[in-house]
Amino acid sequence: MCGIVGYLGQKSPVPLIVDSLRTLEYRGYDSAGVAYLDDESLLHVYKASGKLLNLEGILPNELRLPTLPAESVNGHRNIGIGHIRWATHGAATNVNAHPHTGSRQEIALVHNGIIENFYELRQELQAKGHQFVSETDTESVVQLLEHLAETETDFSKVILKALQKLQGAYALTVISKKFPNHLYAARHQAPLVVGVGKDQNGNDEYIVASDAVAIVNHTNRLIYLKDGEIVEISPAGLRIMNLQGEQVEPVIETISTDPLTIDKKGYKHFMLKEIYEQPDVVRNSLTGRLQSIHQPIWILGDTPEQEGRFDAHLSAINRIVIIGCGTSYNAGLVGKYFIEELVQLPVEVEAAGEFRYRNPFISDRDLVITMSQSGETADTLAALRLSHQKGAKVLTLTNREDSSMAREADFVMPVRAGVEVSVAATKSFTAQITALYLLGLSLAEKRQTLAPEQLESLKAELLKMPARIESVLHNTEPLQVLARKYGQARDVLFIARGVNFPVALEGALKLKEISYIHAEGYSGSELKHGPIAMLDSNVPVVSVLTKGPVFEKMISNCQEAKAREARLIGITNTPVPNELRDTFEDILEIPESVEHFSPMLTTIPLQLLAYYMAEYLGKDVDQPRNLAKSVTVE
Ligand code: M6R
Repeated sequence: MCGIVGYLGQKSPVPLIVDSLRTLEYRGYDSAGVAYLDDESLLHVYKASGKLLNLEGILPNELRLPTLPAESVNGHRNIGIGHIRWATHGAATNVNAHPHTGSRQEIALVHNGIIENFYELRQELQAKGHQFVSETDTESVVQLLEHLAETETDFSKVILKALQKLQGAYALTVISKKFPNHLYAARHQAPLVVGVGKDQNGNDEYIVASDAVAIVNHTNRLIYLKDGEIVEISPAGLRIMNLQGEQVEPVIETISTDPLTIDKKGYKHFMLKEIYEQPDVVRNSLTGRLQSIHQPIWILGDTPEQEGRFDAHLSAINRIVIIGCGTSYNAGLVGKYFIEELVQLPVEVEAAGEFRYRNPFISDRDLVITMSQSGETADTLAALRLSHQKGAKVLTLTNREDSSMAREADFVMPVRAGVEVSVAATKSFTAQITALYLLGLSLAEKRQTLAPEQLESLKAELLKMPARIESVLHNTEPLQVLARKYGQARDVLFIARGVNFPVALEGALKLKEISYIHAEGYSGSELKHGPIAMLDSNVPVVSVLTKGPVFEKMISNCQEAKAREARLIGITNTPVPNELRDTFEDILEIPESVEHFSPMLTTIPLQLLAYYMAEYLGKDVDQPRNLAKSVTVE
């Protein structure tokens, strides 16, 4: 959460920083701010609570024009920093917005993460006369820098000493009026990338950001800083050191920028565009991995050596532990149902934030799978590290091959959803479950837990899923009608069983996060153990009924709900017998598929229902309140 940007080069920094912040708004939108040094090394700070738009509204005209101030003078380069906030310490107010400055207004700093010992630092510095103005943890860092700079003239030493005192997670960028040609940035347990480019005139320029998406419009040459690294950028170039002050050789990677391009492509919201991209997402995920029903499945898809190493590990494991948060956790649950049934291998699914703070039993006979769209979720990253400490190999299923998780995992399976901008995850869920289906089929193939004809038939079914998703997406009118009909509901329950139980959880998560309607997902069997008490004629119950072993059980659960006057909405892939149709106030039919893969279809109407309800209620679909796309604080 929070996005940071820093720039040093010959361009006017503020418009460039604001443009870069726009691509980072998925990380938070509680406030935005910029700071820059002018040609006389005066420090200017602008900040505004709320979205980036509010900051743009208060910027003087000359700071909005990319050409002003023109060339730097006195050998000073143009330098600035910017921030987009997701509030942790202190409300979303102007005063808590970043950049923060020290009492003497000499240093400005932006920060992503949480400084755990901020309170002790604050008390220490207050006792020494530093005046704090905000409620943030970040202000302690900038005040500490200013304090240390009183006695130390080498600013890189000041930064180093300050960082050595910090506990917690940070990615930060700092400028100082005393060192107007220097931009500093550092990271510890929060992502930070440095872009190394040239402007139109061939001058060196550097952009530091929380995510490569904020840089790729300017350069594709990137340095991914590692934990505990500090970068100093000056007219002399770039220097990286570690927390012990030792020099580190920079590694510049040249990346392909296409996958990071962000565009709404004519859709009203990113979420709707991303929902409609799902047939292609599944096609992409299958490409090169499942070519035909007669060929073996190829999981990682990079090199035969990598695949061979992974295969060797797969043959040695006796358990899979899938770890994730939110939608990624729900996707992991689908994997559990599928893999356990087909491969007869125990699969556990853990919420990362719980896993990391107990003492889980993990060994080198486990395959740990960390699921994360962003690859940066703090709890999931910590779970990955804990699994490593306990001797397990980790496979990361992520949508960001340039993420911290992808870098730290032993094996990476890119889920290939393409950039997902909307805070509500949709296509990444479908891409994640597709990846888990491939993994399950591959394991069944290698362990020979399925007859060859069963395996071939499942492969053939999986190859048909993109076309079936397309046909669900061609029938959205009934969902728009349902959204208007039930849009005023206060509570909505989602029920399903078997492999669709996680879909009920996901449907409820989607609805609450973008419409703010209270929603819960339950197994149909759990209704009578408590939630049924909530039901009356005001409560819609969305039930997922798929042809298979639990169809009749679900029908019984729906009747139990109907007997309490609940309003049943059935999402079904098989005709509901006439005598039972009265149980449902509304029924939406979707294409049939084998039970295992039905979540790829049943999820789509629930995503659309949430979307249309939120839109009907006039909510901010892509940027729902209180949320951020990438949760890099625990
Ligand atoms: O990037 P990750 O997949 O690790 O993110 C995990 C959750 O924060 C995320 O899925 C969240 O629940 C989504 N907003 C749900 O739509």
